[in-house]
Amino acid sequence: MLLQVQQLSKSFGSKPVLHQVDFQADRGEFIAVLGSSGAGKSTLLRCINGLVIPTSGKVDVLGMEMNRKNLQRVRRHVGFIFQNFNVIGNLSVLQNVLIGLLGAKGYWNVMFSREEKRKAEEVIDIVGLGDKLHERADRLSGGQKQRVGIARVLAQNPDIILADEPVSNLDPVTSREIMDILRTINETRGTVILCNLHQLELAAEYGHRIIGIHSGRVCFNGNAHDLRDEDLSLIYGGKYVGNTETRVNHTRGEVLV
Ligand SMILES: Nc1ncnc2c1ncn2[C@@H]1O[C@H](COP(=O)(O)OP(=O)(O)OP(=O)(O)O)[C@@H](O)[C@H]1O
Ligand SMILES: [Mg+2]
Repeated sequence: MLLQVQQLSKSFGSKPVLHQVDFQADRGEFIAVLGSSGAGKSTLLRCINGLVIPTSGKVDVLGMEMNRKNLQRVRRHVGFIFQNFNVIGNLSVLQNVLIGLLGAKGYWNVMFSREEKRKAEEVIDIVGLGDKLHERADRLSGGQKQRVGIARVLAQNPDIILADEPVSNLDPVTSREIMDILRTINETRGTVILCNLHQLELAAEYGHRIIGIHSGRVCFNGNAHDLRDEDLSLIYGGKYVGNTETRVNHTRGEVLV
């Protein structure tokens, strides 16, 4: 099992945010995480890459526990993609991607080899920015910035990519382009993708599996095709009302609500 989240709980001070979250992911899975604002989705992803240390329970990546001692070793296998892209505006696309390799090299070695530059150029090509290698990141559109974010993570060749609302700031067409890139990575490299989303239709279309979180608890963990109105109502705390019964188109994988 590539990723195991076991009985994971997290409180900030006296405020409980995650309760006994349990799930696993195997190579090649694309999992969409749904839940209301404040449900704990970002906290969950942060626990998985060690940005947040759980109050109890644990996260194993490739059988290694993510804890303070193992942080650097385990984090090498886990990439993180952010809603706000997190690119460095005054650096070029290439420089932003090379920065992705720093974590693996250690900060004492900031010279990049020819091989590392070649690798960076290769992943920049994969995300479709081959003609923008030397463009400053602050001159790019949101969609292009997110492509840089993905390339930076790809350069690290992770086994798991955590994406925290990667398309929330993008228009619907660009959103699909970005989701398509994540799907291609998932399919060609077997990378586990765990993606927080607020768009149900994207979750159903791209996720093989849906994990629903309500108030820090997993309330749905199953095939995207099996997600019904009553599950969405649980996930969104009774505040989700579908116009008709949620109908799932099995061939296209769409949830029609
Ligand atoms: N560092 C922190 N210190 C204190 N409280 C925090 C911290 N990080 C998150 N929280 C709290 O934990 C709860 C869950 O937050 P989280 O960001 O994980 O939710 P979310 O599901 O990602 O929401 P959204 O959909 O709005 O991004 C919120 O009540 C938030 O205020
Ligand atoms: Mg969040």
